[in-house]
Amino acid sequence: MSQKLLFVCLGNICRSPTAEGITNHLLRSSGYKEAIICDSAGTAAYHIGSPPDRRMQQAARCYGLELQGKARQIRPADLREFDLILAMDRQNYRDILSLDPQGKYAEKVRLMCSYCRSHSDEEVPDPYYGGEAGFHYVIELLWDACSGLLESLVPGIQCPPLPPRA
Ligand code: 4NP
Repeated sequence: MSQKLLFVCLGNICRSPTAEGITNHLLRSSGYKEAIICDSAGTAAYHIGSPPDRRMQQAARCYGLELQGKARQIRPADLREFDLILAMDRQNYRDILSLDPQGKYAEKVRLMCSYCRSHSDEEVPDPYYGGEAGFHYVIELLWDACSGLLESLVPGIQCPPLPPRA
């Protein structure tokens, strides 16, 4: 059966839909589309129903990525239903764990950057209030983390490098 991954940030319009889009792209392009099911969510309710941020979509297109989905808020049942929950930063990590006061699912919750192999960042920086470069950096960092994540979960998968920016 496919493993289910949930990517989580604050608003579910910048970082987590990008992680979802990159992971789906890597799965498709390496021929392992069926191995993993991905979704994303935000810890906050501000942007429920919104598509990915336009600036994030524009940056993603420079690498051949089309971001999908509408923002939703994480709910306690997600901790039961998903196999692995990837937090973009430490605040997200704490907010996810607060939905599970008994710590029953704490093992499923990880920091996304713990899967990076070429970057030493411990958190995916929030690009929302910054300029264009921040959106491109999120893609570069998440490409590294998503590749490391998939190569740790899917035996035999080999992820391609980040394509040059168009
Ligand atoms: P995200 O970015 O958590 O990566 O989706 C943000 C989106 C919206 C806000 C902050 C961060 N906001 O304050 O509305």
